Amino acid sequence: MKARIALLPGDGIGPEICAQAVRVLETAAALGGHVFHLDSYPIGGASIDAHGEPLTKGTLGACQQADAVLLAAVGGPKWDDVDAAIRPERGLLALRKGLGVYANLRPCTIHPALTGACPLRPDLLTTPIDILMVRELTGDVYFGAHEQAADGESASDQMIYTAPEVRRVAQVAFRLAQGRGKRLCSVDKANVLAASRLWRRVVTDLAQEFPDVALTHMYVDNAAMQLVLRPSQFDVVVTGNLFGDILSDESAAIAGSLGMMPSASLGDGKQGLYEPIHGSAPDIAGQNLANPLGTILSVALLLRHSLGLADEAAAVERAVSHALDAGFRTGDIYSAGYRRVTCTGMGDAVIEALKGGA
Ligand code: IPM
Ligand code: MG
Repeated sequence: MKARIALLPGDGIGPEICAQAVRVLETAAALGGHVFHLDSYPIGGASIDAHGEPLTKGTLGACQQADAVLLAAVGGPKWDDVDAAIRPERGLLALRKGLGVYANLRPCTIHPALTGACPLRPDLLTTPIDILMVRELTGDVYFGAHEQAADGESASDQMIYTAPEVRRVAQVAFRLAQGRGKRLCSVDKANVLAASRLWRRVVTDLAQEFPDVALTHMYVDNAAMQLVLRPSQFDVVVTGNLFGDILSDESAAIAGSLGMMPSASLGDGKQGLYEPIHGSAPDIAGQNLANPLGTILSVALLLRHSLGLADEAAAVERAVSHALDAGFRTGDIYSAGYRRVTCTGMGDAVIEALKGGA
């Protein structure tokens, strides 16, 4: 097949991990006889430096034309003035909005070779953890009005959800639950927030269309606690943008390394935005130390969800497992007795496994 993929390497470790993901994409294309057109565009701080804004019309337009978008990471100390009007993160938010990718899928599983990296007590892991977090991505307090009083003494952010916004992301979550453990936990703060009460009503109404899925509701504070007390109770979790931001970092920490976690952001069509959930790690940028596996696993999600290449996606995931089983570890997941590798070294290990038909 032919596909056009827009690459957004971004900032910090972004270009390094993106380069490894590109090698994996090229290998998958060669093995499967596919032609992938890969073009890079600046985003975030790199775009601020080059064009004075974190997402140009040109980059957004190219992404909208592509079959899929692969983004590595944005942000860094150079652009980190929280009062600045122009920040790298704004490019990411504008991209998500501009692509209409309202459902952000963040899986949380512990790779068998990495159970030692999970900070929870081993007895909490006797039942396997396999959570799929579905975070609403283009609404909530992220996209409501952000205001600051002229005297600098007050500020507000509007948390707003419309019923159609809740319905469409809940629909995605129900469908995903149907395809796996048939349990959906909707997380909100309906005991305090009007937007959450709307959220709960819409999700509850929609449940009638999915009688085979067991729906539960949980307040976000309790969900944060339950995730560390008994993570294996969760199957699919659906929640708003802000709660999902926080809970997905928590679940990534449970999985052992932020560096391992991929994500897919989907809208109504096949097009999607794929990114690791970690940031740009400026402290190790440019040193060939970063873990490229979150981005490589995002490539697998891209192959599966946007290009319909399920076999190729599974092959990439198996290659990653193979590299881990063979003992290769970047610094973030290294422990004594394993083979410490660089970012490119991990790329080599995955590609070798992929070519070897792991
Ligand atoms: C994430 C990040 C972003 C978010 C930031 C960089 C704006 O934390 O993708 O989780 O809050 O969505
Ligand atoms: Mg986050």
